[in-house]
Amino acid sequence: MNALGIDIGGSAIKGAPVDTRNGKLLAERHRIEVDAGTSPAAMAKAVGALAAHFKWEGPVGVGFPGVIQGGTIWTSANLHPGFIGCDGARLFGKATGCPVAMINDAAAAAVAEMRFGAGKGFMGKALLITLGTGIGTCLAYQGVVVPLELGHFPWKRGKDAEKYCSAAVRDKKELSWEEWGGRLSDFLVELERLLWPEMIVVGGGVSAKHEKFFPHLKVRAALKPARFLNQAGIAGAAMWATEAR
Ligand code: BGC
Repeated sequence: MNALGIDIGGSAIKGAPVDTRNGKLLAERHRIEVDAGTSPAAMAKAVGALAAHFKWEGPVGVGFPGVIQGGTIWTSANLHPGFIGCDGARLFGKATGCPVAMINDAAAAAVAEMRFGAGKGFMGKALLITLGTGIGTCLAYQGVVVPLELGHFPWKRGKDAEKYCSAAVRDKKELSWEEWGGRLSDFLVELERLLWPEMIVVGGGVSAKHEKFFPHLKVRAALKPARFLNQAGIAGAAMWATEAR
């Protein structure tokens, strides 16, 4: 079955039709620029334009960087605060004229990676982490994906961990790979102490440069770069659209 997968982020929304039987994108992904201040109404317009670009009629999955329960968005740490409490399924359903299933962005990436990517066939406990503006986290065990919010773990001086070691922090503070890798390593070691994953899958755009920072990550779990790189969110959101119950 085919579905349209959409990944909402702080600088752009990206989407493509996906063959949900294998996670493959059926067309080149389309990108529409937005920013952290884009209102829910303006975001809905962009989502509508994305679906229109593909003349899409059918199921749509939307990955959003916040807590999702059912179709409702409950947090919006790096996007407009107007999303908090908003029924995303309804908002984006109206904008696209299609049935919409909502999922946390990191959970979408985890669905794709566990089914067809770096975690394919792995049934043990895996931690998936996406590094971007924020830090997205998810556990997978026996193939079941559980969204988490560990990017907001109180870390150095009580600040959210994502304010200390996200990919955006590396850019903003112009940290070397070693410095940033060290920060990320401390955080991952703490998560390991609490969660004991056997495998850690690292996604987000920066995972394309994993050779630069994996050597600095002193974790005991098997470290794997995400196979889908920055397309996992699109593929997983589409898969979710056909599987959510
Ligand atoms: C959000 C998460 C999201 C992560 C990555 C965090 O700030 O709270 O829901 O998965 O960023 O986008």
